[in-house]
Amino acid sequence: MSAHAGDINRRDFVKATAATMVGAGVLGAFSPNARAAHRVAARGRREIRVGVIGCGGRGTGAAGNAIEASPDARIVALGDLFPERITRAQAGLSSFGDRAQVPPAQCFTGFDAYQGVLSVPCDYVILATPPGFRPIHFSAAIAAGRNAFVEKPVAVDPTGIRTMLAAAAEVDAKNLRVAAGTQRRHEWSYLEAMKQVRQGAIGRVVAARVFWNMGTLWSVAPDPARSDVENQVRNWLYHTWLSGDHIVEQHVHNIDIANWAMGTHPVRCVAVGGRQVRTDINEFGHIFDHFAVDFEYPPVEGDDSPRFALSMARQQDGTAGRVEEVIYGSKGVLRLSPGSARITGETDWMFKGPNNNPYVQEHIDLQNAIVNGTPLNETAQVAASTMCAIMGRMAAYSGSELTWDDALAHPMNLMPPSLQFGPLQQAPVAMPGKSASQLSS
Ligand SMILES: NC(=O)c1ccc[n+]([C@@H]2O[C@H](COP(=O)([O-])OP(=O)(O)OC[C@H]3O[C@@H](n4cnc5c(N)ncnc54)[C@H](O)[C@@H]3O)[C@@H](O)[C@H]2O)c1
Repeated sequence: MSAHAGDINRRDFVKATAATMVGAGVLGAFSPNARAAHRVAARGRREIRVGVIGCGGRGTGAAGNAIEASPDARIVALGDLFPERITRAQAGLSSFGDRAQVPPAQCFTGFDAYQGVLSVPCDYVILATPPGFRPIHFSAAIAAGRNAFVEKPVAVDPTGIRTMLAAAAEVDAKNLRVAAGTQRRHEWSYLEAMKQVRQGAIGRVVAARVFWNMGTLWSVAPDPARSDVENQVRNWLYHTWLSGDHIVEQHVHNIDIANWAMGTHPVRCVAVGGRQVRTDINEFGHIFDHFAVDFEYPPVEGDDSPRFALSMARQQDGTAGRVEEVIYGSKGVLRLSPGSARITGETDWMFKGPNNNPYVQEHIDLQNAIVNGTPLNETAQVAASTMCAIMGRMAAYSGSELTWDDALAHPMNLMPPSLQFGPLQQAPVAMPGKSASQLSS
């Protein structure tokens, strides 16, 4: 832990319930429950200093959430590949006044911007670049003794996951704290529903169906005046080395809930997927626009039957939208989506609120853990859910059935050997069954 965080630990830190101001625009854009009541940390006056690596939509939103979590939090360093993103983040955070004003000497740009942010003393760093960079940034943050808020997903390939898991062990060894951006784990409706599951309200958990079906997201057309690397990073959603594909980038949220309900990660999977609608390689890179995965989970103790989760992710305009998790037990069914949780079966139960704003709660929980010196390390948990999504993508791209052990041990490393603006051939669209090398597309 940083020396500064150690200072805070000696202070009393009391949780109180209070209404919280919603940060101008920034939070509203990312928070479905922006107006919900949530706890605000209150303590002896002492700054909680936060650095941000990746100042796009989510990095800016998370910076606002960190400030909302505590009257004593402030942003002290900003880092982004592109200078204009820092300018835009500062404008987005301007309603927070001097709590978000960062002097130019503590704003950093370029591929080494993360090192600049880590050079500024702070209590935690927010990591919110495209996830391909996350293992590099996270392991550097932990090596520098920083607590971290790490956005999901936390890697795009098995090599990155192994890096994250190694760093997760270091988090504990160094007595650091890490919260992950899988915000459902911090939302009261989800927490209360999982408490019901643990208390047996749906009996033995036997299956799950998890969905993120929607239209397409934003894209940035390539500019011939820019290098391949710059074009790909600016259009990062559509390049697997940066985003992991949408099954990893977005659907990880829902897969994480299947893992939470099952109490573990799957042992194998089979998957299908492809691109039918988003076929323009300039606009949409090489990723798929739909996936369906059958995950097999190990039996629960005292029962030999394997358990299964269907996972479905689609990004196609004009198709039926569905973002939810459905958990099946031997005595009932739990349906979950942000702000809503309902059990039907032998027990009928519904979450009636009040609900919280999970995007702010993540920071309240992290700040409390830092200040109180209580343990919080969500690294392995979010790494496991990210690995499930990666395994699903590997199975869909290749047409292979994969075990968890084989997928996790796979040497795939999608990061280009040298990180600089320059030429970089776009990866081909994966063709299942064509060759085992598709595992590394
Ligand atoms: N938890 C959630 O609900 C949620 C919501 C949105 C996004 N996210 C996650 O947050 C992360 C960022 O997503 P976003 O929507 O903010 O994307 P974004 O494109 O708006 O922001 C990414 C920022 O990172 C910068 N960047 C790229 N490479 C960098 C590097 N090597 N070093 C420093 N900066 C770099 C970009 O210039 C950009 O400003 C992703 O992992 C995404 O999956 C999570």
